Amino acid sequence: MKALRNTRQDAGETGATGTQGVESNRDFDFTPADFERIRALIHRRAGISLSDHKRDMAYSRLARRLRALGLDSFRDYLDQLEARNDAAEWEAFTNALTTNLTAFFREAHHFPILADFVKRRAGGSGAQPVSVWCSAASTGEEPYSIAMTLVEALGERAAREARVLATDLDTQVLAKADAGVYSFDQVKHLSPERLKRFFFKGTGSHSGLVKVRPELRAMIKFEQLNLTDADYGLRTTFDAIFCRNVMIYFDKPTQAQVLARFEPLMKPDGLLFAGHSENFTYVTQAFRLRGQTVYELTRGSRAQTQANAAPRRANDALGVPA
Ligand SMILES: C[S@@+](CC[C@H](N)C(=O)[O-])C[C@H]1O[C@@H](n2cnc3c(N)ncnc32)[C@H](O)[C@@H]1O
Repeated sequence: MKALRNTRQDAGETGATGTQGVESNRDFDFTPADFERIRALIHRRAGISLSDHKRDMAYSRLARRLRALGLDSFRDYLDQLEARNDAAEWEAFTNALTTNLTAFFREAHHFPILADFVKRRAGGSGAQPVSVWCSAASTGEEPYSIAMTLVEALGERAAREARVLATDLDTQVLAKADAGVYSFDQVKHLSPERLKRFFFKGTGSHSGLVKVRPELRAMIKFEQLNLTDADYGLRTTFDAIFCRNVMIYFDKPTQAQVLARFEPLMKPDGLLFAGHSENFTYVTQAFRLRGQTVYELTRGSRAQTQANAAPRRANDALGVPA
């Protein structure tokens, strides 16, 4: 996991919904071999499997890098990328090829499930703080929606007792998420209560924009994290993990690896939220579907097994006879 730095490479690149533009008049030769090479590189770097119909998208987005660097061909660009191992250019390459479509309260049915879940957990004496990891946070709409849900469920306690970790591979979208500024269009479907409670409205030169209020922003930590890294560097466990609409870009072996890394990071009775078209049932034995693309750990999973073993160990220590 890396601390977030603002590394916008070209200002016209990815907006809130990703730039899917296609250039019809091509300035550069783009051979099938170039596309195959791009595919292999982004798969190795980010786990992303680019299908054939992403060919124009790859051309359009990377052509900007060629122009910015004054290069004449994709082959030269890819040769340089691999030979120089320049971290900033790898970042620009990766940022260019991610798809960042998102929205506030997207797949809205998940948020009441989260609210009920945290109310139950946070209720009663000795309640533990609630921690949620949003693992493909994109431009921030999802983690802010999670934080709003936590505030609505827990009231004033949320500021003290609830935390959201929001991560993504793409540093450009994270910079936008960190800033917390959106067009009014992006929030116009939120209730007037939510708008008033969680956003400032821009005036003058900022009219048409809203900004997330600092109390909500303070609940979220934004970090860069690649889900295909072998070690996420996280030394905590989460009550809920949101991993929505990113696994669709990964092949099955990559999905299985990611889920295996999630398993020890979940609290034993935690929830994993997936996107509407993502199905992990045939990918893992550690999670089972609870319904509405929400998963929980199975009894056989490591976290559940350890949780079941814990009271027995406590009894052993007290010398309670079997
Ligand atoms: C389509 S957006 C989904 C955003 C949000 N979760 C939602 O459902 O609205 C997919 C996000 O996954 C991120 N992503 C792609 N590959 C990744 C990886 N290997 N590790 C972390 N994030 C990744 C992209 O940068 C992008 O922001």
